[in-house]
Amino acid sequence: MCGGVTLGKGKSGMKEEKLKELLKNMSLKDKAGQLVQLTGNCFTTADAETGPAADLGIPQDMVYRTGSILNVVGADKLKEVQDQYLEKNPPKIPMLFMADVINGFRTIMPIPLGQGCSFDPELVQEAAQVAAKEASSAGVQVTFSPMVDLVRDARWGRVMESTGEDPCLNSAMGLAMVRGYQGEGLDQPGTVASCVKHFAVYGAPEAGRDYNLVDMSEKRLREEYLPAYETAIKEGGAAMVMTSFNSLNGIPATGNSWLMQDLLRKEWGFEGTLITDYAAIFELLNHGVVKDKREASAMAMKCGVDIDMVTDCYANELEKLVQDGVISREALDEAVYRVLKLKNDLGLFENPIRYADKQLEEKLCCCEEHRTVSRKLAQESCVLLKNKGILPLKKAGQKVALMGALADSQEICGAWSLFYKPEEVVTLKQGMEAKAPLCSTSWGCDMLDAWPKWISFANTEFCGREDQSDSIQEAVQKAKEADVVVMTLGELAQQTGEGTSRGNLELADCQKQLFDAVYQVNPHIVVVLFTGRPLDIRYIDGRAEAILVAWQPGTEGGNAIADLLYGDAEPSGKLSMSFPYCTGQEPVYYAHYRTGRPATRGVKQRFCSSYQDIPNEPLYPFGYGLGYTTFEISVPEVDKAEFAAGDSLQVNATVKNTGDRAGCEVVQLYVKDCVSSTERPVKELKGFERVELKPGESRKVSFTLSEKDFAFFRVDGTWGMEAGEFELYVGSDSDTENKIQVCCRN
Ligand code: GLC
Repeated sequence: MCGGVTLGKGKSGMKEEKLKELLKNMSLKDKAGQLVQLTGNCFTTADAETGPAADLGIPQDMVYRTGSILNVVGADKLKEVQDQYLEKNPPKIPMLFMADVINGFRTIMPIPLGQGCSFDPELVQEAAQVAAKEASSAGVQVTFSPMVDLVRDARWGRVMESTGEDPCLNSAMGLAMVRGYQGEGLDQPGTVASCVKHFAVYGAPEAGRDYNLVDMSEKRLREEYLPAYETAIKEGGAAMVMTSFNSLNGIPATGNSWLMQDLLRKEWGFEGTLITDYAAIFELLNHGVVKDKREASAMAMKCGVDIDMVTDCYANELEKLVQDGVISREALDEAVYRVLKLKNDLGLFENPIRYADKQLEEKLCCCEEHRTVSRKLAQESCVLLKNKGILPLKKAGQKVALMGALADSQEICGAWSLFYKPEEVVTLKQGMEAKAPLCSTSWGCDMLDAWPKWISFANTEFCGREDQSDSIQEAVQKAKEADVVVMTLGELAQQTGEGTSRGNLELADCQKQLFDAVYQVNPHIVVVLFTGRPLDIRYIDGRAEAILVAWQPGTEGGNAIADLLYGDAEPSGKLSMSFPYCTGQEPVYYAHYRTGRPATRGVKQRFCSSYQDIPNEPLYPFGYGLGYTTFEISVPEVDKAEFAAGDSLQVNATVKNTGDRAGCEVVQLYVKDCVSSTERPVKELKGFERVELKPGESRKVSFTLSEKDFAFFRVDGTWGMEAGEFELYVGSDSDTENKIQVCCRN
């Protein structure tokens, strides 16, 4: 149910034998150079051979042999870089241009964690297609996306880049992004090669601390953490894979031959290019598994790592390793051939700058059509956690006070929006005022009491004032004059992304003070939560009359949120990741095991798997989200209550809009294996469907389950299902108890 179709491959470029001929005629140094990736500033600063490249330790005769660069964009700039490079590159092989186009290029989409909440792979694919069109017109040929790491611990700041905690949803979203980026083939205009990352299991660092170790059984890996990579690679046809920083079971991913050779290359048959994450080959020394760069380079090469991202390891060690026979010439040639093949698939030998075109770039970037996609996806990504009738707002006869540091901010695009122009972003204030006048807008409070010393971003205006009483009092005054307060709370974009783990997920104290002070004079508060991760929002959850999670919604964020607040669009988002009761609950996720002493919800018991001081259940579970209307889902029916392994099973349910407004329900299908030879989760998502219904309208939703939906990784190391009872749940979130029992008799 969470699979997809295989894509065509690029048909462009020279014939294989010609490519092999090119390879044969390359010098050892030329070959080594193809496996080096440098930062773009090595080629955009005047002293290319003595500046950043030299600082990196790259020998001068290697700079113009470099196979690729990252994160320089712009049609004109990349044409200039390519021309200058090809003049000096001995074998005249074009350089590859790669970039982090994670949630949009210039038209920014919601952060991936928000996109996951849309449960709309088709729209996510369209958004990736928009990103590819814009990026390729600006000269980008490869994007380091999708990030399909499964995430279940919000202390880890990179959850914002993932589409959440569930393997089925992650697989569907990762596949959609690969399809959006690569289209019908890399020889087609408006496409970029997709690089799936971070392989593997980077999203499960111990204690939620970035770059920390991952220790996990093969069962868990295969059932939960690997499916999304596998789907993106085997079904999506992703052209590239990026290794992850973490170690897996004691061996760093970048030097882990089980991951890179046994699993990725042999079992999954991946023939594309494997690149490391930033400086990950050098970091093998920090991991303590090698003693020097020579050993690090050998370890990575033996794992089939093709490109060394921004270290001097391959640049300085590869030739010697081959001459000393540590790395065979065949292994080197295989790696170089994969890079040449990617360049060939992209058509670089015909046109070294591919689809880069300044006029096209200016025409496409942030055009109305692309903004429309961004606005729709942002609408579908927002999740309404609570609404005591205060929403939708009225456009007339209601005085609305907007407040908060992000109320009129363009910094709502997330940490990985590297190429956007803030002036192109619609703020919440702008979006709301386009619909109805606000009676006031006020700062309220900073986002943070004190800015983490190590963050050097220019967000100082958002944080750190000792005494915020003046702005809080001003907000209180404005709240007194209003019927309703719309208050922005949460996180700044730079508080999530790489290297932003947190030990405390609560709102900043100043935000709590603002809420308390305003609540005293006007309890009618709608909280708009801008955040890159689930937070501990207990402090406001019981008192806010509505809570809308906006994530970091992107270029059209202000319009999309206003559309929802005023009812011009219906909230339909469903949480792609659980909101914890508190930080101490992390990692918290719906597909948990039962244990030998399962707790009973709401019942305080000592000798069971529970806490003395907090519940087991998250504040809001995976799959949860409200709309402005209500829905009923019938008890599921099946075409057969008994089935044999290998049979397909039809599961039907009727959804009815029982409210007075049109709306969209995301109907979710979960499977529970009641008894099996290993522990299994209490339920697992196996299908979902967005159903748009008018008031009173009903529709039958059908899901087809096949053997692979019941299969799991068994003790003997095989995949398969087992006879026995299963429960099939159909509901509007992972807490549903709306189920039917079926039995597999053999
Ligand atoms: C970073 C990130 C990775 C990104 C790469 C290039 O460290 O881990 O996701 O694609 O470097 O910027």
